[in-house]
Amino acid sequence: MKFNILSFRLFLNTTLFTCFFLSSCKFSKQNTDVGLDTIPSLSKLYENDFYIGTAVSTSKLADSTYSATIVKHFNSVTAENVMKWEKIHPQPGVYNFAAADSFMAFAEKNNMHIVGHVLVWHSQTPDWVFQDAKGKLVNRDTLLNRMHDHINTIVGRYKGRVHCWDVVNEAIGDDSEMRKSQWYNIIGDDYVQKAFEYAHNADSSAMLIYNDYSLPTASKRNAVVQLIKKLQSKGIKVDRVGMQGHYHLDYPFLYELDSSIAAFANLGVKVSITELDINILPFPSEKFDADIGMKFEMNDSLNPYVNGLPDSMQVVLANRYADFFNIFLKYKENIDRVTLWGINDGQSWLNYWPIPGRTNYPLLFDREYQPKQAFWKLVELAKENN
Ligand code: GLA
Repeated sequence: MKFNILSFRLFLNTTLFTCFFLSSCKFSKQNTDVGLDTIPSLSKLYENDFYIGTAVSTSKLADSTYSATIVKHFNSVTAENVMKWEKIHPQPGVYNFAAADSFMAFAEKNNMHIVGHVLVWHSQTPDWVFQDAKGKLVNRDTLLNRMHDHINTIVGRYKGRVHCWDVVNEAIGDDSEMRKSQWYNIIGDDYVQKAFEYAHNADSSAMLIYNDYSLPTASKRNAVVQLIKKLQSKGIKVDRVGMQGHYHLDYPFLYELDSSIAAFANLGVKVSITELDINILPFPSEKFDADIGMKFEMNDSLNPYVNGLPDSMQVVLANRYADFFNIFLKYKENIDRVTLWGINDGQSWLNYWPIPGRTNYPLLFDREYQPKQAFWKLVELAKENN
């Protein structure tokens, strides 16, 4: 994701201004202690439009409030971490399926639409994948064999049960060229094609997704359009473009989001919004990329809402969610799923990235699992549209 310097400064000024003048305001909580039984189900309200999904942290499923909130509001689940290479295949020949199996058991027990995340990515992948026993980079054939073994084993294990796979994540870099990852450096740009072929061969019924961030940005949108066209010209099955949706108050412009959904739909694929959250904190750099390797120093002015989110900002966040959902509803024939990246604000990765230890408010439920204004805004919108 990228900001230009002007919009970044504007955002920073607005945020600091709001923070200063509202520092004495009350931070009233919406609908204090609303029980799950007393509120409408978000996924039911949108069931004629698209799935409403969330990322699931398997280790939290034992917490009954966590799991009951998922069951109540979401009809699609994505494994937040347990199917990533470093977790499921940490060493050569060693597969740890226990956590992924329990994610599957939860999802199947509750008849959820299941998303497997993620087969091939440059991040959260152990170094050994790219190295030989002496630490030297392996050659193309060895890496292709490893990729094949990994995809075949995992997709094969959950064949007919995982409905969609994020096959390749983030192959396009922030310069809109192929990212110079080890996958690319060692195999070459057909690594994306190979990953999709292997996934299709392992489960021909699964929907296959190309997933990436900053896709509203025109240059990155165009690069992904070219990539999908190239795959399609080779007869490779790509069913969905996954737009991650790690958005901000100032990014993207709505017209950019609209144009990208239209461009991907024109390719004959569906669009999935795969990792939606809205970062409301100031960003510490004028260059805003969603590269999870980024890290900056903490500074109080970059953490303005430690004592709670002022009502005025709850409204801003709610309106931003509504703006996005209005576009998703406009394209509901082309969008199969909108997945939030987590349940409650306290659990979001955005409290730790790109500055560890901030207090962020990017989701629909607060730290006590209470629905926020953003939640109620989406309820209202669904009702207006049905
Ligand atoms: C990327 C990945 C996700 C997750 C987020 C950050 O978007 O696809 O799995 O790691 O970064 O939480």
